[in-house]
Amino acid sequence: MPSRQEVSYFGAGPAPLPTSVVEAGAKAFVNYNDSGLGLGEISHRSPTANKILADAKANLSTLLDIPDNYEILFMQGGGSGEFSAVVQNLVPVWIERRRRRAEAEILKANPGTEKDQLNELVYQRLQKEVDEELKLDYLITGSWSLKASQEAAKLVGSKYVNVALDARKANDGKFGKIPTEETWSLTPTKREGGKGSAFVYFCDNETVDGVEFQSFPKSLEAQGQDEEDERLVVADMSSNFISRKVDVSKYAVIFGGAQKNIGVTGITLAIVRKDLLPPHTATPPPTLLHRLNIGGLPGPVVLDYATIAKNNSLYNTLPIFNLWIAGQVMADLVSEFGAQKVSGQEAVANKKAQLIYGALDKYPAVYQVVPDKSIRSRMNICFRVSGGDDAKEKEFIAGAEKRLLQGLKGHRSVGGMRASNYNAVPLENVQKLVQYLEDFANGQ
Ligand SMILES: Cc1ncc(COP(=O)(O)O)c(C=O)c1O
Repeated sequence: MPSRQEVSYFGAGPAPLPTSVVEAGAKAFVNYNDSGLGLGEISHRSPTANKILADAKANLSTLLDIPDNYEILFMQGGGSGEFSAVVQNLVPVWIERRRRRAEAEILKANPGTEKDQLNELVYQRLQKEVDEELKLDYLITGSWSLKASQEAAKLVGSKYVNVALDARKANDGKFGKIPTEETWSLTPTKREGGKGSAFVYFCDNETVDGVEFQSFPKSLEAQGQDEEDERLVVADMSSNFISRKVDVSKYAVIFGGAQKNIGVTGITLAIVRKDLLPPHTATPPPTLLHRLNIGGLPGPVVLDYATIAKNNSLYNTLPIFNLWIAGQVMADLVSEFGAQKVSGQEAVANKKAQLIYGALDKYPAVYQVVPDKSIRSRMNICFRVSGGDDAKEKEFIAGAEKRLLQGLKGHRSVGGMRASNYNAVPLENVQKLVQYLEDFANGQ
């Protein structure tokens, strides 16, 4: 039976955790801090749970330099739950902003308008605007952004979803390239002659396809102070969270499941700009949303950012053990990298990724990296063996298993190989993989 130290695991998620955290977690699950109770047994409203929550928030804020005007929410439902949550929360923001504008303009034109009549006029204008102008922009660069766009279409209707980019079109029907920004068809903002979209969505790192945005897209940068010139940017960082420096202030929402770089499954993180929540932006009344009849809005309360924020992530029962694991991983990164914060982790991630890509590129006849060089993911390294020859790929996996290099099979939808290089994958394990890549290529 292999020990933990002997196995090198490269699975795409759930993914390895630091051994120190797993060992401390095992103790905490039985008897936390000599309290006689395990972390799966205490109330999520207890002082102990509150401290774990506050520490996790503080450590995440430190690592990512999260500005004060952002809320950190711990939720459940995974990355997939957030596909719905962003729609459920940001379409109402679009409606509320327009409701405010409509109300002000109608009152300016007819100052004495009665409340009931005003509400009716506002509703009529909003209904027209929803029908004619509501757009949700999606950049589809891989399987996860595709799924997110499909969820949005399911929730509110495909007529509202603008696929601003379908990267498959530039690559023979497969993911693996991100065409240049001039080719994207984002909904134009006011200064571009349009009315803007409710939000622009992208997946920062496509886990299945090994595609990562190398930097924040220029065309999503703020264009001015005017609401109608702003692009509310949503990013799924499930598989590259806390693996590199991110300018949080460029985003409306960043979200991700914990089970790759942060912790165990069961906790989802969302970082949400405060002015998109009450009291800055009111939630439109359910009756108005019902009347506007936009798919399933308003949605379930457990995905409602305003409710989760108002209740400090404790609206319903939060899994405190899972939260503790995430908090511990973040606390360890804070103490390991000190003033470098997440940039320290970024340097390590880059180094490990370079080692693996270096070995793959050295033997182009044996290994072929799937995505284009310009957008290679540092987290999920997807490659084929001998051009995807079935027998050779099986031989590669069998040889890897013999050395206890595990979890290297690509996602079932795309096949091939995938080495996931998350934060907790030790350099030493990457070196073992690199040695195997060398040996296999040299027939050893
Ligand atoms: C980038 C990305 N987004 C979303 C998801 C879905 O996450 P979950 O399984 O937590 O719903 C995954 C899962 O692997 C993912 O990699």
